[in-house]
Amino acid sequence: MVAEQSPASRRNFLKSVGVAGGAGVMYSAMGALGLAPVPEVRADAYRAPQQSDFTLTGRGGGKTVLVLGGGIAGLATAYELGKAGYDCRILEAKDRPGGRNWTVRGGTTLTDLDGRRQTASFTKGQYINAGPARLPQSHVTLDYCRELGVELQVFTNQNANAYIYQENSAALANEPMRWRTAKADVYGYVSELLAKATDQGALDTRLTAQDKERLIPFLQSFGAIKGKADGYAYAGTNRRGYSVEPGAAFEDGTVLGPVPTLSDVIASGVGQRFSFELGYDQAMMMFQPVGGMDAIPNALAKAIGQSRITYGAKALEVKDLADGAEVTYKDAAGRTRTQRADFVVSAVPPMIMARLKHNLGTDITAALKYAVPTPVGKIGLEYRSRWWETDEQIYGGITPTDMDLATIWYPSYGYQGRRGTLVGYYNFGANALAYSALPHTERLARAVSQGVKIHGDKYRTELDHSFSVAWHRTPDIEAGWVSWPSQTGAEYKLLNQPAGHVYFAGDWLSHTIAWQHGAFTSARKVVTDIHERVLSA
Ligand code: ALA
Repeated sequence: MVAEQSPASRRNFLKSVGVAGGAGVMYSAMGALGLAPVPEVRADAYRAPQQSDFTLTGRGGGKTVLVLGGGIAGLATAYELGKAGYDCRILEAKDRPGGRNWTVRGGTTLTDLDGRRQTASFTKGQYINAGPARLPQSHVTLDYCRELGVELQVFTNQNANAYIYQENSAALANEPMRWRTAKADVYGYVSELLAKATDQGALDTRLTAQDKERLIPFLQSFGAIKGKADGYAYAGTNRRGYSVEPGAAFEDGTVLGPVPTLSDVIASGVGQRFSFELGYDQAMMMFQPVGGMDAIPNALAKAIGQSRITYGAKALEVKDLADGAEVTYKDAAGRTRTQRADFVVSAVPPMIMARLKHNLGTDITAALKYAVPTPVGKIGLEYRSRWWETDEQIYGGITPTDMDLATIWYPSYGYQGRRGTLVGYYNFGANALAYSALPHTERLARAVSQGVKIHGDKYRTELDHSFSVAWHRTPDIEAGWVSWPSQTGAEYKLLNQPAGHVYFAGDWLSHTIAWQHGAFTSARKVVTDIHERVLSA
């Protein structure tokens, strides 16, 4: 039977099923073989439409597809369908591709929904990724980078030398604490407690004698605690770092002290920070395109063909027709135009689509409005020197805080250079609203006055340029991302199927919202659905 064949021959079998019957038939075959739930196989399972699909089925291609929105989902839709010769056009409201995938450099301008205008004056080579800024290894985004020739470099999402800073904690407040120091103390004390409990028999209902024997050495290694004779005490080690670094001859270094008490470490709450680096999507290694995240939309737009993208096109109406669909929009010159296609893919944010005139039904409008927009803000701070590297030995990574700036990001590019650009806040929800209520100069002042508490005066004195974005106040975008009250209810289901000849795509129709992976996989789903429909028509 097929199930007993080698993985390679199974793959060939599935490929031939896919070629003959289209992706949907291939998926069914995979399901029948019990292969579909295996992640590696699932990633492999997406099969881009091909010209030859039409030859093999004897059905004609040449269908037209109008894509609303040139963000990642819209670009990926046109890119993938284009592989089989679909005639795709993209209508994009902005003057660039990418949507939230936006790299801000010197000269970049933004006029927000409040009429506030900024022009970035970053020095050549300096930039921030205002939207997506980190790519996990498991995401198909990396596969697109490979396919499109987008060069990657490491994005440092977690750095032992970055700080944790808290001003509202019950202990150890207002002291920037290195991530490594906090971790040494938390792991140390937790190991001490568990070793003591194990040794004293408190866990005997759960642990056999042999379990206990094996657990203790793990705890000694995990927490760098002392031996039985010393009560498995945690007393701090050089995992905390040094106040005097080890050096030549007789300089053996001075371990950073004093070690805070167990009670203070618990009260500080720093232990809650370490779950971040364990998150499936946030764990190292992570990556970013060299030179800016917008290398991805730029490469997609190039592969699609710039002539297929109409910029400055503001959609006004979407109409499903008996044999296709049409979009009415205002072009860059202010003229109203209507374009017809066999299919329309709406790849704009749901709350924007909900406001367009359409004939898709009130259920669709209600479902689109069911998604809840999340306010998100970011500021870039360009400095004349890379003091975080020279003075504080921080090369990339993130300092989390309990201030409303939320996090400070150190750049994962341009190490040892003359200048560098930090992310001075990346926040969402109420914090993002608090910043977006202010004009840029006040956002800057607020962010800097908080950063000074961690890094001292140079945070102000070395500052040269800045630029801030409030995604929820950005035209044609209006949120950092959305969340669903439920992704199992009727609303989400409704939008994951076509309304006549109109399809919906975006990260918001995925289980990886706020990641480009979600946009890519949603686009792949719509592409597969359209291609199957065309092949079986
Ligand atoms: N994917 C977004 C991030 O990593 C939410 O911050």
